[in-house]
Amino acid sequence: MTELRRSLLEWYGRQGRDLPWRHQSDPYAIWVSEIMLQQTQVKTVIPYYQRWLDRFPTIKDLAIADLQTVLKAWEGLGYYARARNLHKAAGQIVRDYNGVFPQRLDEVLTLAGIGRTTAGGILSAAFNQPWSILDGNVKRVLSRLVALPVPPKKAIEQLWQLSDTLIDPQHPRDFNQALMDLGAIVCTRSRPSCDRCPWMPYCQAYSQGMQAQLPMRESS
Ligand code: ADE
Repeated sequence: MTELRRSLLEWYGRQGRDLPWRHQSDPYAIWVSEIMLQQTQVKTVIPYYQRWLDRFPTIKDLAIADLQTVLKAWEGLGYYARARNLHKAAGQIVRDYNGVFPQRLDEVLTLAGIGRTTAGGILSAAFNQPWSILDGNVKRVLSRLVALPVPPKKAIEQLWQLSDTLIDPQHPRDFNQALMDLGAIVCTRSRPSCDRCPWMPYCQAYSQGMQAQLPMRESS
C-alpha cells in the first residue's frame, strides 16, 4: 500500500501534467475546472477555462449573470446542462452559504451538477481533504490494477472501496491528480504504456498479460 502510494507520487512529481487549475486554490476556480472536464478533453478546456474566470471571477459574478450570458460563455463546450447547473449552483451558494463555497462533502453534494466524484475532486484539490474519486480514467486504472473480472459498472461499489483504500491520507490532493494523470498518460484505453507505469510491479492485468482486454466491456 505505502509502496503503491509512494511510487505513484514519485512518478507524478516527474511526469505529472502542469495544468492551469493545479495552480488554483480558490474552490470556485477548481469547481469550474472539474465541471468543464467532466465531458470535455483537457486540451479543449484550457482556453475556455481562463476566459470563464476572466468573465466570471467569483461565485457572485456567476450568480448575478443572466443565464443567456452564461450559456454564451459555454458555447463550444457542449453538454449545456453543465453550464445551467453551474449557474444554478452559484445561486445556491450565494443563498445558502453566503457566497462561500462549502467545505463539507454533504453540503457540496447538495449543489446542482455535483456528484460524488466531482465533489471528491473539488474537496481534495481545494482543501486537501481525503475524498477519493472514480471517473472514467480512474475506473480503468483500478480495473486493471486488480484485474477486475467484471465490467466496471457491475462493480462500482468495489471500485469506490478500492479508491478509498488507496488514497494517500497524507497527500490526497496530489494522489488524486496523479491517478487521473496515470489514466490519461500511461494507462490509456488502447495500447497502455506499461513499461513506463509506476504500478507495473503491482498490476494484476499486466502480470496476467490482460491489460489490452481490461477493463471488461459493458454488456449492453
Ligand atoms: N479530469 C477531471 N478532473 C481533472 C483534473 N483535475 N486534472 C486532469 N484531468 C481531470
